Amino acid sequence: MAFSTEIIAWYNKHKRDLPWRHTTDPYVIWLSEVILQQTRVAQGLPYFHRFLSRYPNVEAFAAAPEEEILLHWQGLGYYSRARNMHHAAKAVVAAYGGAFPNRYDDLVKLKGIGAYTAAAIASFSANEARAVLDGNVFRVLARYFGIDEPINSTSGKKLFSALADELLDQTHPGLYNQAVMEFGAIQCKPSGPNCEECVLRLDCRALAEKRVNQLPVKIKG
Ligand code: ADE
Repeated sequence: MAFSTEIIAWYNKHKRDLPWRHTTDPYVIWLSEVILQQTRVAQGLPYFHRFLSRYPNVEAFAAAPEEEILLHWQGLGYYSRARNMHHAAKAVVAAYGGAFPNRYDDLVKLKGIGAYTAAAIASFSANEARAVLDGNVFRVLARYFGIDEPINSTSGKKLFSALADELLDQTHPGLYNQAVMEFGAIQCKPSGPNCEECVLRLDCRALAEKRVNQLPVKIKG
């Protein structure tokens, strides 16, 4: 089975039931992705629910006083995320009349939305074929393909990005992106992955070469 097919089959069997996976509303996906940028799922969940019930759409978010948003953000840290969100929400209302964009090229122009977040929103909400590349994906690719190029070097970033684009399932980009991130989060974990029961064990280069714990490589900067 091809890599992406195998990952999607694994995902359909093992995925967690997470609330942002039941929507294609780019506003809701944006909320979840920004909260999860530097926060674990378990910690982010109550914030996600609170923000969505207080600000059910981008107009409500944009209209809220900044201090109120920062107050609800308390405990999540990295407050620039909340300030950038408020800035982006106001820009969306001004430029799109409150219809949150779902195209990659429009999304990356918004404050606080980088390549990863734009790819996540565009692929989950509109099935746009953009590959996500976060810590989970770097780890899965580095191990499966046995790549020891540092993930944070200029050449490493290029290599991983090209590989991620090549592997992207063009028919189900949103599903595949969720699947590969989930695979990294709960199967191909940073330490102590359960390789004996992994569906990719027969083709995993790092496992064959006993280098699972050495990959991915990151250079200190
Ligand atoms: N972390 C970042 N994005 C995520 C998502 N969509 N599902 C689970 N964990 C995530």
